[in-house]
Amino acid sequence: MEKLIGILTSGGDTPGLNAAIRAIGKTLNHRYGYTLIGFNDGFRGLMENRFIHLNDERLSNILTAGGTILGSSRDKPNKMPVGGKTLDMTEAMVENYHKNHLSGLICLGGGGTQKNAYHLAKAGLNIMTLPKTIDNDVVGTDVTFGFDTALSIATEAVDRLHSTASSHHRVIILETMGHRVGWLALEAGVAGGADVILLPELPFDEGKIAEAIMTRTKQGKRFSIVVVAEGAVPQSVFNKAKKQLETMNVENDDMLKAIQNQVESYLSVRTVRLAEVLEKQTGKETRVTILGHVQRGGTPSARDRVLSTALGARCAQEVAKGAWGYMMSVRGTEIVPVPLEEVVTGKKYVPEDHYLIQSARDMGICLGI
Ligand code: F6P
Repeated sequence: MEKLIGILTSGGDTPGLNAAIRAIGKTLNHRYGYTLIGFNDGFRGLMENRFIHLNDERLSNILTAGGTILGSSRDKPNKMPVGGKTLDMTEAMVENYHKNHLSGLICLGGGGTQKNAYHLAKAGLNIMTLPKTIDNDVVGTDVTFGFDTALSIATEAVDRLHSTASSHHRVIILETMGHRVGWLALEAGVAGGADVILLPELPFDEGKIAEAIMTRTKQGKRFSIVVVAEGAVPQSVFNKAKKQLETMNVENDDMLKAIQNQVESYLSVRTVRLAEVLEKQTGKETRVTILGHVQRGGTPSARDRVLSTALGARCAQEVAKGAWGYMMSVRGTEIVPVPLEEVVTGKKYVPEDHYLIQSARDMGICLGI
């Protein structure tokens, strides 16, 4: 009987997904004689039993393509919008898995996908995962694929903003993605030589940023570049939310996440509001660039192609061994399987004592605190 493995891509798309699908499919097929089928649009495709056969022809010529040939969605197995209702469709997915006689299912995704995949593992399916996201916030791995490509795009944006900010003697604020964590902003800020870098992990004081900009002006530097992560919040907003949560006796071991949920409405206007405050406090013309989905689009960097290929090929080897319930992870120079229950414990935030935060401080880059 044919040995069949399923694969799906879920959550926000990321450069490197196709490279990973290709590596998994080719290794499973050439080395171990498995056939791979790909469910369309994440967990929804599994629920609706929509899939394509990932034969050699389908796996060719996709290494450099951005996005995912399978399509993606943010649907969750246990909270799926169906016919105007939100339903638990886990059972339908388990049924389709068995109907197709799958030996296992490989899920490529970020933190949310890891949780959904773990949910299906607990429902009895053989699950393996790969960590993908431009946010680099998945616990258990040093790095996720997609991050390097997004970092290059964000860094190029910082580079390009320098000349226009300098010509017009302006403050330019660049907002990066990153969801609730600051890896992308921190590294793009450092790589691009930003003057101010603001992260969700370090709530900022607008006064301190204005002061840093004015100090630069006094030193004869007539422009400033601020890189702000989309999840960064001012101390005033952060402290207010924290106080509210404390009086509500919120039981939460992840306070930062709870606070971020609380200030969601601020986050929708964050960067524009910051620009208004800084313009008022520094008297300098200020402009905003919100990079958005540009950071997720297009061909993966060479580093992401290598990472996706290495993770994918190694995943196929583990699958052939019959090892299930793991995420393939990067640890130093190794690729290792990490149990899913360890991965789903939270988010990988930038630690306050991270060496890059220290280096930025030592070099006089303002972190808004
Ligand atoms: O998780 C990847 C990411 O690009 C985040 O950086 C961002 O906050 C989010 O997805 C945007 O999601 P969507 O594409 O659904 O708007």
